[in-house]
Amino acid sequence: MVDWVRLRLDVDGFDDAAFEPYLTRARESGVEFTTMAELGDTAGHRRALYDLNKTCSADIPDRGEFYTYDAYVTERIEVPSFDPAGVALALHQGAWIGMTTTSLHESKGYAFSEMTGVLAPYRGRGLSLALKLLAIRFVRSSGYRWLATFHHPRNASAIAMNRRLGFVDQVGEVG
Ligand SMILES: CC(C)(COP(=O)(O)OP(=O)(O)OC[C@H]1O[C@@H](n2cnc3c(N)ncnc32)[C@H](O)[C@@H]1OP(=O)(O)O)[C@@H](O)C(=O)NCCC(=O)NCCS
Repeated sequence: MVDWVRLRLDVDGFDDAAFEPYLTRARESGVEFTTMAELGDTAGHRRALYDLNKTCSADIPDRGEFYTYDAYVTERIEVPSFDPAGVALALHQGAWIGMTTTSLHESKGYAFSEMTGVLAPYRGRGLSLALKLLAIRFVRSSGYRWLATFHHPRNASAIAMNRRLGFVDQVGEVG
């Protein structure tokens, strides 16, 4: 059985200013940031999101087979917790190179960081931190305080990324 690493962040205490330079530097290097809400929740954009998610997920330890496109739409997009404003995207020369998706769980009272991924050639430049800053702003503006996530224990880069942002081990229920 996998002993998942469960993490949570108190977005009220998050220091945006400390991570703003990652966004600024990325923009200066030609990376653009947007959301699925801004681009439009269209069939073409859903497919592009799926393709990016699938490519990045191939690097998650023990991820196993990825969803088919139809299952992805049914289980990850056409659900009440999905919000196209919660899909932050990084683009370079028009190509989608990074993503972070955040779902909102009203009954549980917290937001959940579903997937963050950056294409391999673009990793190690702070793009995930820039994307997560946008995700954290989305969580805050949606009226939530807690952002939760969990990772496979061997996903060292993802765990380090979240700890770098201030995520801590979650004990018991979120909140
Ligand atoms: C995890 C992932 C999104 C990180 O993206 P990235 O843009 O390369 O990360 P960043 O450059 O923003 O690095 C952010 C922090 O993460 C940590 N980190 C990133 N890559 C790391 C690595 N290979 N080893 C250890 N720590 C790492 C560091 O703490 C880093 O901060 P620092 O440079 O100030 O020390 C990327 O590796 C990825 O897409 N992996 C495959 C998909 C995945 O596993 N997603 C998470 C599951 S939802």
